[in-house]
Amino acid sequence: MIRSVKGTHDILPDQTWRWRKIESSLHGFMQKYGYQEIRTPAFEKTELFSRGIGEETDIVSKEMYSWTDQGGEKLTLKPELTAPVVRSFIQHNLGSQSSTNRLYYMDTLFRRERPQKGRTRQFHQFGVEVFGSEHPEADAEVIAISYNFFKTLGIDNLTLTLNSIGSDDCRNNYRNELRNYLKPFLSDLTETSQNRFQNNPLRILDTKIEHEKEILKNAPEIGNFLTVDDKSHFEEVKSLLNGLSIPFSIQSQMVRGLDYYTRTTYEISSTALGAQDALCGGGRYDKLVETLGGKPTPAVGFAAGIERLLLALELKPTEFNFESIQIYIIGLTEKVRSNCQVIAQDLRNQGFSVSTDLLRRSLKSLLREANRNSVKVAIIIGDDELANDIVQVKDMETGEQTTVSKNKLTEHLTDLDF
Ligand code: HAM
Repeated sequence: MIRSVKGTHDILPDQTWRWRKIESSLHGFMQKYGYQEIRTPAFEKTELFSRGIGEETDIVSKEMYSWTDQGGEKLTLKPELTAPVVRSFIQHNLGSQSSTNRLYYMDTLFRRERPQKGRTRQFHQFGVEVFGSEHPEADAEVIAISYNFFKTLGIDNLTLTLNSIGSDDCRNNYRNELRNYLKPFLSDLTETSQNRFQNNPLRILDTKIEHEKEILKNAPEIGNFLTVDDKSHFEEVKSLLNGLSIPFSIQSQMVRGLDYYTRTTYEISSTALGAQDALCGGGRYDKLVETLGGKPTPAVGFAAGIERLLLALELKPTEFNFESIQIYIIGLTEKVRSNCQVIAQDLRNQGFSVSTDLLRRSLKSLLREANRNSVKVAIIIGDDELANDIVQVKDMETGEQTTVSKNKLTEHLTDLDF
């Protein structure tokens, strides 16, 4: 037997309704904020991610599903959506059509991580990317969207952690200070961190290794290296969040796992989750459009994991309108059966949800099945009914059975008002 690949999961019919609830809530929610949906291809040129996310990051250095195709092109299944959305923004010149572009997405992503609860190799995200504004209002809007969406869905125990990793000037100065601080500990660091020490020391702050975290406890804080402009930007973001009644705490070492961030970075986590507690992460990336070949364009966004959202959400099936079939058509003889499908098609065209039997079963077993599936009405047709252009309509709740002429059927069903 061939099983699904490790770290990938089927979403079976008893779960798909939960996904659809999230999906429809998201579309409605984003419309309220005036965001438009963008969809990008499942795979992109590998270079997009290595240049966009950063060679030194875990994602690019060890988690991407990459291959060389038959034409010799290096391709990668997308591990995140910011770089593809930026690529699309540049390619289609969206910046020239509007001074700000507010985009959102929902998509399937791939990272070869070690699977555990809340962490899979194929997973789903929704998120937003806003292009064109360098101002703190954009940061606050993006953060508010993520926070308020979780709240709307009823997720409590949210923690928002916020940081600013400043502009280029700030990070250049900080990089040197961090190197000075880490130099005496260099031999205690892992090989990966030793390599990052030269090329990208800020990456070391994102370590998951306990003894490295210990070393970093007394490391200089990036907050002390912010320029005057960085500082006032960060102060404004904080004050806007206060105004929106969104509580947050500052975590000065939060750099996040992707290299493109400038200034604001943030994560929202929930205590309802286990070790993988980040519901979403995001921030500002004012240089990425330029890095990927576009005109300098400030931007900010976030992405949230849908699997984690579902883990944090205790959705109750009763809160959701299960899509049970309204009408079941039962043909009692071979002669009638082909007619059942015609009647079913006709009723569907009039807006009813209708199913027919595919196993040529008996009336008794079909009524049992109709009951089990919470069907509202069974329409029973035998040879007599066929000959006289009538049907038997059985109300499955009351058990009451009525003879109805075929040309009055729609009217009768509409009156039943199920
Ligand atoms: P990220 O932090 O890599 O950011 O991912 C965002 C969210 O996706 C995480 O907080 C988590 O909920 C979910 N996630 C990530 N990896 C997995 C996994 N293996 N299994 C399940 N869920 C996962 C980004 O992807 C950035 N593109 C966010 C962004 C948008 N920044 C600016 N704009």
